[in-house]
Amino acid sequence: MSEIFDVAVIGAGPGGYVAAIRCAQLGLNTVCIDDWKNAKGKASLGGTCLNVGCIPSKALLESSANYFHLKNKFSVHGITAEHVSVDVPVMVARKDKIVTTFTAGIASLFKKNKVKSIHGRGTLLKREGSTDDWQIKIDDNGNTETVRAKHVIVATGSVPRPLSLAPIDNNLILDNAGALALTEVPKRLGVIGAGVIGLEMGSVWRRLGAEVTILEAMPGFLMAADEQVAKEAKSIFSKELGLQISTGINIASVKISSNSVVVSYSDANNQEQVLEVDKLIVAIGRTPNTSGIGADENGLMLDERGFVVVDPHCRTNLNNVYAVGDVVRGPMLAHKASEEGVAVAEMIAHIQKGQASENEAIDFNTIPWVIYTEPEIAWVGKNEQELRAAGIAYKSGQFPFIANGRARAIGETTGFVKVLADEKTDRVLGVHMVGPHVSELISEAVMAMKFSASSQDIACIVHAHPSLSEVVHEAALGVDKRTLHL
Ligand code: FAD
Ligand code: NAI
Repeated sequence: MSEIFDVAVIGAGPGGYVAAIRCAQLGLNTVCIDDWKNAKGKASLGGTCLNVGCIPSKALLESSANYFHLKNKFSVHGITAEHVSVDVPVMVARKDKIVTTFTAGIASLFKKNKVKSIHGRGTLLKREGSTDDWQIKIDDNGNTETVRAKHVIVATGSVPRPLSLAPIDNNLILDNAGALALTEVPKRLGVIGAGVIGLEMGSVWRRLGAEVTILEAMPGFLMAADEQVAKEAKSIFSKELGLQISTGINIASVKISSNSVVVSYSDANNQEQVLEVDKLIVAIGRTPNTSGIGADENGLMLDERGFVVVDPHCRTNLNNVYAVGDVVRGPMLAHKASEEGVAVAEMIAHIQKGQASENEAIDFNTIPWVIYTEPEIAWVGKNEQELRAAGIAYKSGQFPFIANGRARAIGETTGFVKVLADEKTDRVLGVHMVGPHVSELISEAVMAMKFSASSQDIACIVHAHPSLSEVVHEAALGVDKRTLHL
């Protein structure tokens, strides 16, 4: 208890563990406190992202895509296979192995970087008197200890937003953790919420053979995405994958009947509907996780939705207390959380050296979004409806994957890339993609926007041939009506 750490990080998700590593690299004596336990009851670093989020979902997306391709897409290559079957427990075990490899990897990174790792729930104790440092009580199943630190980074992440009509039991009604742990393919799967989790998890189980119905409250589909991208994606999800997506619905009741779940809802035309499914995933967003961190006791300011209030540099209203990741405003994305963690670590290092400095505020406009469906969806910056609403005059260039040689060769020709640029200055304002491997292609657009590039800057870069990246090139050429291959 006498040791005073330079930094205590509460939470070891991509916000917290990255912040802790960067703090240690900068010479700060750092402790990271995390309470995550895996299904076997073992401490497991990495937070939502590694345990029940980004990584396990991508592992199952890959396995299910392989199965789906072999069954439905390989025959055009002259490849056929008989008796193709799927072994869900093997698939899930592969996913679990990837997760444990990575979570153990964080423990090794902590060791290598000399971050002290403590398992347990951290609570910021009320600061008494004129002490300079903070005390954090750590509770691990009733065993408690207290650490002291000059700076605290709150990185406690988020939890699934509950739907009171459909309480999670992870048997019939599942959250993201349950949706990633099914041991057999449900015949009928319902999903409430056509957001990122609903679409990714719905895709996994549909590819493996489930009948999937997704019920979405909003009147439109994927309203955060560019309208044209959302329209194209919805059409392919429905026609090629067979996802049944209903928007504008209103859930009336969710009842468990013997071994199924019955969802009653009104549809977009106000007609009463009933959906009976074997499993129901509830994925209606996530809420910041501040329970038990000592917010009330210390007067840590939260906003009306429960997010820790921070300034553009992730400083809270409490002296030397910062917050990063899902627990603060901005997109709930792993790379956003990590970026904030690094920025705060660097700011604390400057402060410790007596060089009071502010880190560069994270520019949310250049944070990429990716949805790992098939086709993938990715974007950065503003979309057309946002530009129109803001009254910003823009030019647009677009190119379809069907006209690209590499896309034809790999047999993935749906979708397009669209580049939006300021009408006067030509500066890139947004890039929107739906199609094969756009999760990788988006990085070029992010870099262009980060360096304030114009569409013609992208257009004058030589892109390898044949490659999918030529679609980005052609879309950029298209802004100036110079498309070559269409
Ligand atoms: P978290 O990862 O939630 O970590 C917080 C950690 O703090 C947890 O370990 C928690 O147990 C711990 N904790 C909380 N309170 C305390 C306390 N008082 N004391 C000690 N420990 C505490 N994002 C992407 O960018 N790409 C994706 O592909 C992607 N896929 C996703 C798929 C799913 C199914 C889900 C659910 C999310 C996905 N996300 C994805 C979002 C991503 O997981 C989050 O944005 C990211 O994990 C946020 O990181 P974080 O560090 O803020 O919080
Ligand atoms: P989401 O916000 O993406 O989608 C939730 C959807 O549920 C919305 O479309 C919303 O309108 C709908 N909804 C809300 N209440 C409803 C109700 N009562 N009935 C029907 N529909 C309702 O949230 P989701 O999918 O839960 O994911 C949470 C977050 O996790 C994402 O926003 C994202 O930040 C992160 N994530 C990121 C991924 C990625 O980067 N590829 C993958 C998965 C999650």
